[in-house]
Amino acid sequence: MRCLRKKNLNSQSELASMESLKDKIDATRLPRHIAIIMDGNGRWATEKGQDRLYGHFHGVESVRDIVEGCAELGIEYLTLYAFSTENWDRPEYEVTGLMELLVETIRNEVETLNKNNIRLHVIGNMNMLPEYAKIALNEALELTSKNTGLNLIMALSYSSRWEMVEAVKSIAADIKKGSLDPETITQETLQRYLSTSNFPDPELMIRTSGEYRISNFLLYQLAYAELYFTNVRWPDFRKENLYEAILNFQGRERRFGKTGAQLQGQKLPEKENTL
Ligand code: IPE
Ligand code: IPE
Ligand code: MG
Repeated sequence: MRCLRKKNLNSQSELASMESLKDKIDATRLPRHIAIIMDGNGRWATEKGQDRLYGHFHGVESVRDIVEGCAELGIEYLTLYAFSTENWDRPEYEVTGLMELLVETIRNEVETLNKNNIRLHVIGNMNMLPEYAKIALNEALELTSKNTGLNLIMALSYSSRWEMVEAVKSIAADIKKGSLDPETITQETLQRYLSTSNFPDPELMIRTSGEYRISNFLLYQLAYAELYFTNVRWPDFRKENLYEAILNFQGRERRFGKTGAQLQGQKLPEKENTL
């Protein structure tokens, strides 16, 4: 694929070890959808004696690398949690800095996304974004709308509880209108009303920076996702860390409520009595 960033590997041996990690991945058992909580930008910067915005700025480099890594592997969907509903409560200078960084990044990267056949999607409450951010996002959504490669879903001004309330409101409105019969509501109906209705559920959820929580991210959709937590701060997260997460995912047994024996197709032990 065309390069999304300048290569920045320190040595030939670093490249070789990364390739060997990638080679271990079973290409027939990739997660279709990976979701990432990109956490730790602020701490990364503070540890370097820098302002938190410096961490967000460097986090963009990780976004490029991971988008490129997913596209190279043939991952179909990548959701990145970039800004939560609760993040609006951060100090004003940080919120403004993040919005400006978002718009600048979208404007700088959209051509590259397009050349690499990547389709951009956004989930979240767009009404809360400043007008200039909405304009930049809509242009990027439009430009990449015909692409058929990786689906890059940015969760922006997003929270799962917001999404569920919106879904409930739309369901109630459709019932009131008479276009939905409450008796016919199933899990599939509810899924259709979520902002992720066009995407399969994530199979692997990664959170960086050593926090073991979901922070209002895809609460419904992550029901059976494998969760992977790493201490690596987001600005340090690179393709090799992604490969490690995928290899860890491939080593797990996904049981979906069944027993391990059932999954391995083993004959279940005969019941000894019929009590
Ligand atoms: C994640 O990094 C980015 C956003 C939430 C926008 P943080 O800004 O949460 O960094 P920490 O967790 O404070 O280190
Ligand atoms: C979650 O990170 C949101 C994003 C990464 C965009 P936060 O840093 O906001 O989450 P908490 O506050 O630690 O739970
Ligand atoms: Mg954080």
